[in-house]
Amino acid sequence: MIFVILSTFALSLLIYWYYKITSDKETGFFYLLFCPRTRTVDGSKLSQTVKISKNESLFKNSFDLFNLDSVKLFDYIRNLANEYKESFLLHVVFGCAFQVIRAEDLEDVMKEPDLITKGVYYHFLEDFLGEGLLLSTDKKWHSRRKLLTPSFHFNILERFLDTFRNESVRFVEHLSQFVGKDLVLQDHIPKATLNMICETALGVKLSEIDESDQYRKTINKIEHLEMERAGNILMYFDPIYKWFGKKKEYVGQCDEAHKFTSGIINSRRKGFQGDDGGSGKKRRFALLDNLLNIEKEGLIDHQGVCEEVDTLTFEGFDTTSTGIMFTIFMLGQHQDIQDRVFEEVNSIAKEDMNVTDYSDLKYLECVIKESLRLYPPVPYISRKVVKRIKVGKLWLAKDTELAIHIFDIHRDPKHFPDPEKFDPDRFNPENTINRHPYAYIPFSAGLRNCIGQRFAMLELKILIAAIVKNYKILPVTIREDLKFKAGLILRTNHDLFVRFERRE
Ligand code: HEM
Repeated sequence: MIFVILSTFALSLLIYWYYKITSDKETGFFYLLFCPRTRTVDGSKLSQTVKISKNESLFKNSFDLFNLDSVKLFDYIRNLANEYKESFLLHVVFGCAFQVIRAEDLEDVMKEPDLITKGVYYHFLEDFLGEGLLLSTDKKWHSRRKLLTPSFHFNILERFLDTFRNESVRFVEHLSQFVGKDLVLQDHIPKATLNMICETALGVKLSEIDESDQYRKTINKIEHLEMERAGNILMYFDPIYKWFGKKKEYVGQCDEAHKFTSGIINSRRKGFQGDDGGSGKKRRFALLDNLLNIEKEGLIDHQGVCEEVDTLTFEGFDTTSTGIMFTIFMLGQHQDIQDRVFEEVNSIAKEDMNVTDYSDLKYLECVIKESLRLYPPVPYISRKVVKRIKVGKLWLAKDTELAIHIFDIHRDPKHFPDPEKFDPDRFNPENTINRHPYAYIPFSAGLRNCIGQRFAMLELKILIAAIVKNYKILPVTIREDLKFKAGLILRTNHDLFVRFERRE
Protein backbone atom coordinates (compact mmCIF):
# COMPACT_ATOMS: atom_id res chain seq x y z
CA MET A 1 0.00 0.00 0.00
CA ILE A 2 2.79 2.42 1.03
CA PHE A 3 4.56 1.57 -2.20
CA VAL A 4 1.46 2.53 -4.23
CA ILE A 5 1.07 5.86 -2.35
CA LEU A 6 4.78 6.72 -2.79
CA SER A 7 4.72 5.75 -6.46
CA THR A 8 1.59 7.88 -7.07
CA PHE A 9 3.24 10.79 -5.27
CA ALA A 10 6.45 10.42 -7.29
CA LEU A 11 4.48 10.14 -10.52
CA SER A 12 2.45 13.28 -9.66
CA LEU A 13 5.67 15.15 -8.97
CA LEU A 14 7.07 14.00 -12.30
CA ILE A 15 3.91 15.08 -14.16
CA TYR A 16 3.96 18.46 -12.36
CA TRP A 17 7.64 18.97 -13.29
CA TYR A 18 6.93 17.95 -16.86
CA TYR A 19 3.99 20.38 -16.99
CA LYS A 20 6.14 23.20 -15.56
CA ILE A 21 8.96 22.84 -18.04
CA THR A 22 6.85 22.30 -21.12
CA SER A 23 4.76 25.35 -20.29
CA ASP A 24 7.86 27.45 -19.78
CA LYS A 25 7.88 29.65 -22.87
CA GLU A 26 11.29 31.03 -21.93
CA THR A 27 13.21 27.83 -22.30
CA GLY A 28 10.98 25.07 -23.57
CA PHE A 29 10.96 21.36 -23.13
CA PHE A 30 13.50 20.21 -25.67
CA TYR A 31 16.07 22.77 -24.68
CA LEU A 32 15.73 21.92 -20.98
CA LEU A 33 16.40 18.27 -21.57
CA PHE A 34 19.88 19.06 -22.74
CA CYS A 35 21.26 22.02 -20.91
CA PRO A 36 21.25 23.77 -17.58
CA ARG A 37 19.19 26.94 -17.26
CA THR A 38 20.23 30.54 -16.94
CA ARG A 39 18.67 31.97 -13.79
CA THR A 40 18.21 35.43 -12.42
CA VAL A 41 20.11 36.50 -9.33
CA ASP A 42 16.98 37.81 -7.57
CA GLY A 43 14.82 34.82 -8.49
CA SER A 44 12.52 36.82 -10.80
CA LYS A 45 11.35 35.51 -14.17
CA LEU A 46 14.14 35.37 -16.72
CA SER A 47 12.21 37.29 -19.38
CA GLN A 48 11.63 40.16 -16.95
CA THR A 49 15.37 40.52 -16.39
CA VAL A 50 16.90 39.93 -19.80
CA LYS A 51 15.70 40.00 -23.41
CA ILE A 52 15.37 36.52 -24.89
CA SER A 53 15.50 36.02 -28.62
CA LYS A 54 12.15 34.72 -29.86
CA ASN A 55 11.81 31.34 -31.46
CA GLU A 56 8.87 29.15 -30.58
CA SER A 57 10.20 26.02 -32.28
CA LEU A 58 11.23 22.94 -30.34
CA PHE A 59 14.86 23.64 -31.17
CA LYS A 60 14.74 27.28 -30.08
CA ASN A 61 17.39 29.35 -31.95
CA SER A 62 19.52 26.32 -32.90
CA PHE A 63 18.75 26.49 -36.59
CA ASP A 64 18.35 30.25 -36.94
CA LEU A 65 21.74 30.40 -38.60
CA PHE A 66 21.21 27.37 -40.79
CA ASN A 67 22.15 27.98 -44.42
CA LEU A 68 22.53 31.74 -43.95
CA ASP A 69 25.22 33.16 -46.21
CA SER A 70 27.98 35.11 -44.48
CA VAL A 71 26.32 38.53 -45.07
CA LYS A 72 23.01 37.38 -43.58
CA LEU A 73 24.96 35.75 -40.76
CA PHE A 74 26.60 39.10 -39.98
CA ASP A 75 23.26 40.95 -40.16
CA TYR A 76 21.47 38.39 -37.97
CA ILE A 77 23.03 39.64 -34.71
CA ARG A 78 22.99 43.31 -35.86
CA ASN A 79 19.23 43.08 -36.43
CA LEU A 80 18.67 41.54 -33.00
CA ALA A 81 20.97 44.13 -31.40
CA ASN A 82 18.98 46.94 -33.05
CA GLU A 83 15.72 45.39 -31.92
CA TYR A 84 16.65 44.66 -28.29
CA LYS A 85 19.12 47.49 -27.66
CA GLU A 86 20.56 45.55 -24.72
CA SER A 87 22.46 42.29 -24.22
CA PHE A 88 20.23 39.27 -24.83
CA LEU A 89 19.99 35.48 -24.67
CA LEU A 90 19.83 32.95 -27.46
CA HIS A 91 18.81 29.38 -26.66
CA VAL A 92 20.26 26.55 -28.69
CA VAL A 93 19.88 22.80 -28.24
CA PHE A 94 22.96 22.23 -26.18
CA GLY A 95 23.12 25.46 -24.28
CA CYS A 96 22.51 29.09 -23.86
CA ALA A 97 24.46 31.92 -25.48
CA PHE A 98 24.53 35.30 -23.78
CA GLN A 99 25.01 37.97 -26.47
CA VAL A 100 26.86 40.90 -24.93
CA ILE A 101 26.30 44.16 -26.78
CA ARG A 102 26.68 46.62 -23.89
CA ALA A 103 29.83 47.68 -22.02
CA GLU A 104 28.05 47.53 -18.67
CA ASP A 105 27.60 43.75 -19.01
CA LEU A 106 31.29 43.27 -19.76
CA GLU A 107 32.68 44.43 -16.47
CA ASP A 108 32.03 41.12 -14.66
CA VAL A 109 33.21 39.11 -17.67
CA MET A 110 36.54 40.82 -18.24
CA LYS A 111 37.49 40.95 -14.57
CA GLU A 112 36.65 37.32 -13.83
CA PRO A 113 39.76 35.08 -13.75
CA ASP A 114 37.54 32.02 -14.31
CA LEU A 115 36.31 33.40 -17.63
CA ILE A 116 39.43 32.99 -19.73
CA THR A 117 38.40 29.89 -21.68
CA LYS A 118 37.52 30.63 -25.29
CA GLY A 119 34.11 29.84 -26.80
CA VAL A 120 33.03 27.15 -29.22
CA TYR A 121 34.15 28.79 -32.47
CA TYR A 122 37.79 28.86 -31.37
CA HIS A 123 37.68 25.08 -31.13
CA PHE A 124 37.42 25.06 -34.93
CA LEU A 125 40.88 26.68 -35.09
CA GLU A 126 42.64 24.04 -32.99
CA ASP A 127 44.04 22.09 -35.95
CA PHE A 128 45.65 25.29 -37.13
CA LEU A 129 46.86 27.06 -33.98
CA GLY A 130 47.13 24.18 -31.49
CA GLU A 131 47.43 25.42 -27.94
CA GLY A 132 49.06 28.71 -28.83
CA LEU A 133 48.36 31.85 -26.82
CA LEU A 134 45.04 32.62 -28.52
CA LEU A 135 43.43 29.25 -27.82
CA SER A 136 45.09 27.89 -24.67
CA THR A 137 43.56 28.27 -21.24
CA ASP A 138 44.28 27.84 -17.51
CA LYS A 139 47.87 27.06 -16.49
CA LYS A 140 49.15 26.68 -20.04
CA TRP A 141 47.85 30.10 -21.02
CA HIS A 142 49.22 31.75 -17.85
CA SER A 143 52.70 30.34 -18.38
CA ARG A 144 52.78 31.12 -22.13
CA ARG A 145 51.51 34.66 -21.58
CA LYS A 146 54.26 35.19 -19.00
CA LEU A 147 56.87 33.87 -21.41
CA LEU A 148 55.68 35.97 -24.36
CA THR A 149 54.93 39.29 -22.66
CA PRO A 150 58.58 40.51 -22.65
CA SER A 151 58.66 40.03 -26.45
CA PHE A 152 56.24 42.95 -26.79
CA HIS A 153 58.05 45.28 -24.41
CA PHE A 154 58.35 48.94 -25.44
CA ASN A 155 62.13 48.57 -25.98
CA ILE A 156 61.64 45.60 -28.28
CA LEU A 157 59.31 47.67 -30.49
CA GLU A 158 62.23 49.96 -31.32
CA ARG A 159 63.88 47.01 -33.04
CA PHE A 160 60.96 46.68 -35.44
CA LEU A 161 60.95 50.31 -36.52
CA ASP A 162 63.31 49.73 -39.43
CA THR A 163 61.18 46.90 -40.77
CA PHE A 164 58.00 48.99 -40.54
CA ARG A 165 59.68 51.99 -42.15
CA ASN A 166 61.35 50.06 -44.95
CA GLU A 167 58.12 48.29 -45.80
CA SER A 168 56.28 51.66 -45.80
CA VAL A 169 58.82 53.15 -48.21
CA ARG A 170 58.50 50.09 -50.43
CA PHE A 171 54.71 50.31 -50.27
CA VAL A 172 54.62 54.02 -51.13
CA GLU A 173 56.79 53.27 -54.18
CA HIS A 174 54.56 50.34 -55.10
CA LEU A 175 51.49 52.63 -55.05
CA SER A 176 53.03 55.02 -57.55
CA GLN A 177 52.06 52.72 -60.45
CA PHE A 178 48.39 53.06 -59.48
CA VAL A 179 48.19 56.85 -59.19
CA GLY A 180 44.94 58.15 -60.68
CA LYS A 181 43.45 54.66 -61.01
CA ASP A 182 40.79 52.95 -58.88
CA LEU A 183 42.62 50.61 -56.56
CA VAL A 184 41.27 47.69 -54.50
CA LEU A 185 42.72 48.01 -51.00
CA GLN A 186 42.33 44.28 -50.31
CA ASP A 187 44.70 43.50 -53.20
CA HIS A 188 47.57 45.53 -51.76
CA ILE A 189 47.47 46.22 -48.00
CA PRO A 190 47.42 42.57 -46.77
CA LYS A 191 50.61 41.87 -48.72
CA ALA A 192 52.37 44.71 -46.92
CA THR A 193 51.19 43.64 -43.46
CA LEU A 194 52.05 40.00 -44.06
CA ASN A 195 55.53 41.12 -45.08
CA MET A 196 55.80 43.13 -41.86
CA ILE A 197 54.62 40.39 -39.51
CA CYS A 198 56.78 37.75 -41.20
CA GLU A 199 59.86 39.92 -40.97
CA THR A 200 59.25 40.95 -37.35
CA ALA A 201 57.95 37.61 -36.07
CA LEU A 202 59.90 35.15 -38.19
CA GLY A 203 62.84 37.22 -39.34
CA VAL A 204 62.29 36.50 -43.04
CA LYS A 205 61.57 38.74 -46.00
CA LEU A 206 58.64 37.22 -47.85
CA SER A 207 59.70 38.90 -51.05
CA GLU A 208 62.61 36.49 -50.98
CA ILE A 209 60.41 33.42 -50.51
CA ASP A 210 58.61 31.77 -53.44
CA GLU A 211 55.72 30.26 -51.46
CA SER A 212 54.57 33.52 -49.83
CA ASP A 213 51.58 34.08 -52.16
CA GLN A 214 50.47 30.55 -51.52
CA TYR A 215 50.75 31.11 -47.75
CA ARG A 216 48.45 34.15 -48.00
CA LYS A 217 45.88 32.13 -49.93
CA THR A 218 46.11 29.26 -47.44
CA ILE A 219 45.36 31.55 -44.48
CA ASN A 220 42.33 32.97 -46.31
CA LYS A 221 41.07 29.49 -47.12
CA ILE A 222 41.41 28.37 -43.50
CA GLU A 223 39.29 31.29 -42.35
CA HIS A 224 36.70 30.66 -45.06
CA LEU A 225 36.34 27.00 -44.04
CA GLU A 226 36.06 28.00 -40.40
CA MET A 227 33.17 30.40 -41.09
CA GLU A 228 31.41 27.86 -43.27
CA ARG A 229 31.50 25.49 -40.32
CA ALA A 230 30.27 28.15 -37.91
CA GLY A 231 27.14 28.65 -40.04
CA ASN A 232 26.01 25.04 -39.68
CA ILE A 233 25.33 23.83 -36.15
CA LEU A 234 25.49 20.16 -37.19
CA MET A 235 29.14 20.65 -38.14
CA TYR A 236 29.98 21.74 -34.58
CA PHE A 237 30.23 18.05 -33.71
CA ASP A 238 33.66 16.75 -34.63
CA PRO A 239 32.55 13.30 -35.91
CA ILE A 240 29.90 14.88 -38.18
CA TYR A 241 32.41 17.42 -39.49
CA LYS A 242 34.88 14.61 -40.08
CA TRP A 243 32.48 12.30 -41.94
CA PHE A 244 30.13 14.74 -43.65
CA GLY A 245 31.97 18.07 -43.59
CA LYS A 246 35.21 19.45 -44.94
CA LYS A 247 37.54 18.31 -42.16
CA LYS A 248 39.95 16.70 -44.62
CA GLU A 249 40.24 19.84 -46.72
CA TYR A 250 40.62 21.95 -43.56
CA VAL A 251 43.41 19.79 -42.13
CA GLY A 252 45.12 19.82 -45.53
CA GLN A 253 45.18 23.62 -45.53
CA CYS A 254 46.49 23.70 -41.95
CA ASP A 255 49.28 21.29 -42.93
CA GLU A 256 50.21 23.63 -45.78
CA ALA A 257 50.43 26.62 -43.42
CA HIS A 258 52.45 24.60 -40.86
CA LYS A 259 54.90 23.45 -43.52
CA PHE A 260 55.59 27.06 -44.44
CA THR A 261 56.18 28.29 -40.88
CA SER A 262 58.07 25.25 -39.60
CA GLY A 263 60.45 25.48 -42.58
CA ILE A 264 61.26 29.03 -41.50
CA ILE A 265 61.57 28.06 -37.82
CA ASN A 266 64.01 25.28 -38.63
CA SER A 267 66.27 27.47 -40.72
CA ARG A 268 66.17 30.24 -38.10
CA ARG A 269 67.06 27.72 -35.41
CA LYS A 270 70.17 26.75 -37.36
CA GLY A 271 71.18 30.39 -37.61
CA PHE A 272 70.36 30.85 -33.95
CA GLN A 273 72.85 28.16 -33.07
CA GLY A 274 75.52 30.21 -34.76
CA ASP A 275 75.18 28.72 -38.23
CA ASP A 276 74.55 31.56 -40.68
CA GLY A 277 74.89 29.23 -43.62
CA GLY A 278 78.18 30.87 -44.43
CA SER A 279 76.50 34.12 -45.45
CA GLY A 280 78.16 36.09 -42.67
CA LYS A 281 75.16 38.47 -42.63
CA LYS A 282 74.12 40.16 -39.39
CA ARG A 283 70.61 38.90 -38.62
CA ARG A 284 67.81 41.27 -37.70
CA PHE A 285 66.06 40.50 -34.40
CA ALA A 286 62.71 38.65 -34.66
CA LEU A 287 60.05 37.58 -32.13
CA LEU A 288 61.00 34.01 -33.01
CA ASP A 289 64.44 34.61 -31.46
CA ASN A 290 62.81 35.15 -28.08
CA LEU A 291 60.93 31.89 -28.50
CA LEU A 292 64.14 30.07 -29.45
CA ASN A 293 65.82 31.51 -26.37
CA ILE A 294 62.98 30.20 -24.24
CA GLU A 295 63.28 26.84 -26.00
CA LYS A 296 67.00 26.75 -25.15
CA GLU A 297 66.11 27.24 -21.48
CA GLY A 298 63.77 24.26 -21.75
CA LEU A 299 60.61 26.30 -21.04
CA ILE A 300 58.93 25.50 -24.36
CA ASP A 301 59.36 22.67 -26.89
CA HIS A 302 59.46 22.68 -30.71
CA GLN A 303 55.72 22.08 -30.91
CA GLY A 304 55.15 25.07 -28.60
CA VAL A 305 57.40 27.31 -30.73
CA CYS A 306 55.41 26.34 -33.85
CA GLU A 307 52.06 27.00 -32.14
CA GLU A 308 53.12 30.45 -30.99
CA VAL A 309 54.62 31.38 -34.35
CA ASP A 310 51.45 30.31 -36.17
CA THR A 311 49.36 32.26 -33.66
CA LEU A 312 51.43 35.44 -33.95
CA THR A 313 51.48 35.40 -37.75
CA PHE A 314 47.77 34.67 -37.95
CA GLU A 315 46.80 37.28 -35.32
CA GLY A 316 49.23 39.91 -36.53
CA PHE A 317 48.51 39.80 -40.25
CA ASP A 318 44.85 40.30 -41.15
CA THR A 319 44.01 42.33 -38.05
CA THR A 320 46.48 45.06 -38.91
CA SER A 321 45.64 45.04 -42.62
CA THR A 322 41.95 45.46 -41.80
CA GLY A 323 42.74 48.34 -39.43
CA ILE A 324 44.83 50.05 -42.11
CA MET A 325 42.31 49.50 -44.91
CA PHE A 326 39.38 50.98 -43.01
CA THR A 327 41.43 53.95 -41.81
CA ILE A 328 42.52 54.74 -45.38
CA PHE A 329 38.98 54.21 -46.60
CA MET A 330 37.58 56.64 -43.98
CA LEU A 331 40.27 59.22 -44.72
CA GLY A 332 39.12 59.07 -48.35
CA GLN A 333 35.53 59.71 -47.23
CA HIS A 334 36.51 62.69 -45.02
CA GLN A 335 38.80 65.11 -46.83
CA ASP A 336 38.77 67.66 -43.97
CA ILE A 337 40.01 65.02 -41.51
CA GLN A 338 42.61 63.84 -44.03
CA ASP A 339 43.88 67.44 -44.39
CA ARG A 340 44.36 67.64 -40.61
CA VAL A 341 46.26 64.35 -40.59
CA PHE A 342 48.45 65.54 -43.47
CA GLU A 343 49.28 68.80 -41.67
CA GLU A 344 50.24 66.91 -38.53
CA VAL A 345 52.31 64.30 -40.36
CA ASN A 346 54.04 67.00 -42.38
CA SER A 347 54.91 69.09 -39.37
CA ILE A 348 56.11 66.24 -37.15
CA ALA A 349 57.35 63.44 -39.35
CA LYS A 350 61.10 63.40 -39.89
CA GLU A 351 63.74 60.84 -40.82
CA ASP A 352 64.70 58.34 -38.10
CA MET A 353 61.77 58.89 -35.78
CA ASN A 354 61.84 56.69 -32.70
CA VAL A 355 58.85 55.05 -30.99
CA THR A 356 58.31 58.07 -28.72
CA ASP A 357 58.33 60.44 -31.73
CA TYR A 358 55.50 58.47 -33.26
CA SER A 359 53.42 59.02 -30.14
CA ASP A 360 53.46 62.75 -31.02
CA LEU A 361 51.18 62.00 -33.99
CA LYS A 362 48.22 62.57 -31.69
CA TYR A 363 45.53 63.39 -34.23
CA LEU A 364 46.48 60.45 -36.44
CA GLU A 365 46.13 58.26 -33.35
CA CYS A 366 42.59 59.60 -32.78
CA VAL A 367 41.73 58.88 -36.43
CA ILE A 368 43.01 55.30 -36.15
CA LYS A 369 41.12 54.78 -32.89
CA GLU A 370 37.90 56.09 -34.40
CA SER A 371 38.33 53.75 -37.40
CA LEU A 372 38.91 50.82 -35.06
CA ARG A 373 35.76 51.83 -33.19
CA LEU A 374 33.52 51.80 -36.27
CA TYR A 375 35.31 48.94 -37.97
CA PRO A 376 36.95 46.77 -35.28
CA PRO A 377 39.15 44.25 -37.14
CA VAL A 378 38.06 41.59 -34.63
CA PRO A 379 34.33 42.28 -34.47
CA TYR A 380 33.44 39.41 -32.17
CA ILE A 381 35.09 37.34 -29.43
CA SER A 382 33.68 34.69 -27.14
CA ARG A 383 34.15 32.88 -23.87
CA LYS A 384 32.89 29.63 -22.42
CA VAL A 385 31.56 29.54 -18.85
CA VAL A 386 33.47 26.75 -17.12
CA LYS A 387 31.66 27.00 -13.80
CA ARG A 388 28.39 28.65 -12.79
CA ILE A 389 29.04 32.35 -12.63
CA LYS A 390 27.24 35.61 -11.86
CA VAL A 391 27.23 38.17 -14.66
CA GLY A 392 25.18 41.27 -13.85
CA LYS A 393 21.68 40.15 -12.86
CA LEU A 394 22.15 36.61 -14.19
CA TRP A 395 23.58 33.35 -13.01
CA LEU A 396 25.08 31.80 -16.12
CA ALA A 397 25.24 28.01 -16.01
CA LYS A 398 28.34 25.97 -16.83
CA ASP A 399 28.90 25.65 -20.61
CA THR A 400 27.04 28.85 -21.44
CA GLU A 401 28.60 30.74 -24.35
CA LEU A 402 29.42 34.41 -23.88
CA ALA A 403 29.40 36.11 -27.26
CA ILE A 404 30.99 39.54 -27.03
CA HIS A 405 30.03 41.71 -30.01
CA ILE A 406 32.71 44.40 -30.15
CA PHE A 407 31.05 45.79 -33.30
CA ASP A 408 27.84 46.57 -31.37
CA ILE A 409 29.49 47.58 -28.09
CA HIS A 410 31.29 50.31 -30.07
CA ARG A 411 27.97 51.61 -31.38
CA ASP A 412 26.23 52.20 -28.07
CA PRO A 413 24.81 55.77 -28.32
CA LYS A 414 25.14 56.10 -24.55
CA HIS A 415 28.94 56.13 -24.86
CA PHE A 416 29.27 57.30 -28.45
CA PRO A 417 26.48 59.77 -29.29
CA ASP A 418 25.50 59.67 -32.97
CA PRO A 419 27.50 56.41 -33.20
CA GLU A 420 27.75 56.13 -36.99
CA LYS A 421 29.41 59.56 -37.25
CA PHE A 422 33.15 59.37 -37.94
CA ASP A 423 34.49 61.78 -35.36
CA PRO A 424 38.13 61.29 -34.30
CA ASP A 425 37.76 64.03 -31.65
CA ARG A 426 35.88 61.50 -29.54
CA PHE A 427 39.35 60.28 -28.62
CA ASN A 428 40.74 63.60 -27.42
CA PRO A 429 41.85 63.14 -23.80
CA GLU A 430 39.09 65.44 -22.50
CA ASN A 431 36.43 63.35 -24.27
CA THR A 432 37.71 59.98 -23.10
CA ILE A 433 38.32 60.71 -19.45
CA ASN A 434 34.86 59.69 -18.20
CA ARG A 435 34.15 56.98 -20.74
CA HIS A 436 33.15 53.56 -19.48
CA PRO A 437 36.34 51.39 -19.38
CA TYR A 438 34.74 48.67 -21.55
CA ALA A 439 32.97 50.92 -24.06
CA TYR A 440 35.95 50.85 -26.42
CA ILE A 441 37.67 47.46 -26.73
CA PRO A 442 39.11 46.87 -30.23
CA PHE A 443 41.96 44.93 -28.58
CA SER A 444 39.62 43.26 -26.07
CA ALA A 445 40.32 43.95 -22.39
CA GLY A 446 41.19 42.29 -19.12
CA LEU A 447 43.47 39.31 -18.76
CA ARG A 448 43.14 38.12 -22.35
CA ASN A 449 43.60 41.42 -24.09
CA CYS A 450 45.68 41.64 -27.26
CA ILE A 451 49.35 41.12 -26.51
CA GLY A 452 50.27 42.85 -29.79
CA GLN A 453 48.30 46.09 -29.43
CA ARG A 454 51.25 48.49 -29.12
CA PHE A 455 52.99 46.69 -31.95
CA ALA A 456 49.81 47.04 -34.05
CA MET A 457 49.28 50.74 -33.31
CA LEU A 458 52.87 51.51 -34.24
CA GLU A 459 52.61 49.57 -37.49
CA LEU A 460 49.33 51.29 -38.41
CA LYS A 461 50.71 54.74 -37.66
CA ILE A 462 53.89 54.26 -39.67
CA LEU A 463 52.21 52.90 -42.78
CA ILE A 464 49.28 55.33 -42.77
CA ALA A 465 51.53 58.35 -42.08
CA ALA A 466 53.74 57.36 -45.02
CA ILE A 467 50.75 57.02 -47.35
CA VAL A 468 49.12 60.32 -46.32
CA LYS A 469 52.44 62.17 -46.57
CA ASN A 470 52.88 61.09 -50.20
CA TYR A 471 49.36 60.71 -51.56
CA LYS A 472 45.97 62.31 -51.35
CA ILE A 473 43.34 59.61 -50.84
CA LEU A 474 40.13 60.05 -52.84
CA PRO A 475 36.88 58.16 -52.26
CA VAL A 476 35.55 55.66 -54.77
CA THR A 477 33.48 53.11 -52.81
CA ILE A 478 30.76 54.89 -50.82
CA ARG A 479 30.48 54.21 -47.10
CA GLU A 480 26.71 53.66 -47.27
CA ASP A 481 27.30 50.73 -49.66
CA LEU A 482 29.42 48.73 -47.21
CA LYS A 483 28.08 45.24 -46.51
CA PHE A 484 29.91 43.03 -44.05
CA LYS A 485 30.49 39.30 -43.87
CA ALA A 486 30.57 37.27 -40.66
CA GLY A 487 34.06 36.07 -39.90
CA LEU A 488 36.90 36.12 -37.42
CA ILE A 489 38.04 39.32 -39.07
CA LEU A 490 35.78 42.14 -40.25
CA ARG A 491 35.48 41.91 -44.02
CA THR A 492 33.30 43.56 -46.61
CA ASN A 493 31.36 41.51 -49.09
CA HIS A 494 32.86 43.48 -51.96
CA ASP A 495 36.09 45.22 -52.82
CA LEU A 496 37.01 48.50 -51.11
CA PHE A 497 38.09 50.95 -53.81
CA VAL A 498 39.97 54.23 -53.31
CA ARG A 499 42.08 56.38 -55.60
CA PHE A 500 45.48 57.90 -54.85
CA GLU A 501 46.78 61.21 -56.19
CA ARG A 502 50.38 62.22 -55.69
CA ARG A 503 50.90 65.21 -53.37
CA GLU A 504 53.13 67.94 -54.76
C1 HEM B 1 44.74 46.24 -35.26
C2 HEM B 1 45.31 45.11 -34.96
C3 HEM B 1 44.83 44.12 -33.94
C4 HEM B 1 43.60 43.98 -33.36
C5 HEM B 1 42.36 44.82 -33.61
C6 HEM B 1 43.68 42.86 -32.44
C7 HEM B 1 42.64 42.43 -31.65
C8 HEM B 1 42.73 41.39 -30.75
C9 HEM B 1 41.65 40.93 -29.93
C10 HEM B 1 40.24 41.52 -29.92
C11 HEM B 1 42.10 39.90 -29.18
C12 HEM B 1 41.31 39.08 -28.18
C13 HEM B 1 40.87 37.80 -28.84
C14 HEM B 1 39.96 36.98 -27.97
O1 HEM B 1 39.77 37.25 -26.81
O2 HEM B 1 39.47 36.01 -28.49
C15 HEM B 1 43.47 39.69 -29.53
C16 HEM B 1 44.29 38.71 -28.98
C17 HEM B 1 45.57 38.46 -29.40
N1 HEM B 1 46.30 39.19 -30.31
FE1 HEM B 1 45.66 40.83 -31.30
N2 HEM B 1 44.95 42.34 -32.48
C18 HEM B 1 45.69 43.08 -33.37
C19 HEM B 1 47.02 42.90 -33.69
C20 HEM B 1 47.82 41.93 -33.17
C21 HEM B 1 49.22 41.76 -33.49
C22 HEM B 1 50.01 42.66 -34.42
C23 HEM B 1 49.65 40.65 -32.80
C24 HEM B 1 51.01 40.02 -32.77
C25 HEM B 1 52.08 40.47 -33.32
C26 HEM B 1 48.53 40.13 -32.05
C27 HEM B 1 48.56 39.02 -31.25
C28 HEM B 1 47.52 38.60 -30.45
C29 HEM B 1 47.59 37.43 -29.59
C30 HEM B 1 48.77 36.48 -29.46
C31 HEM B 1 46.37 37.35 -28.91
C32 HEM B 1 45.96 36.33 -27.86
C33 HEM B 1 46.31 36.93 -26.50
C34 HEM B 1 45.92 36.07 -25.32
O3 HEM B 1 44.88 35.40 -25.35
O4 HEM B 1 46.66 36.10 -24.34
N3 HEM B 1 47.44 40.94 -32.29
N4 HEM B 1 43.84 40.61 -30.50
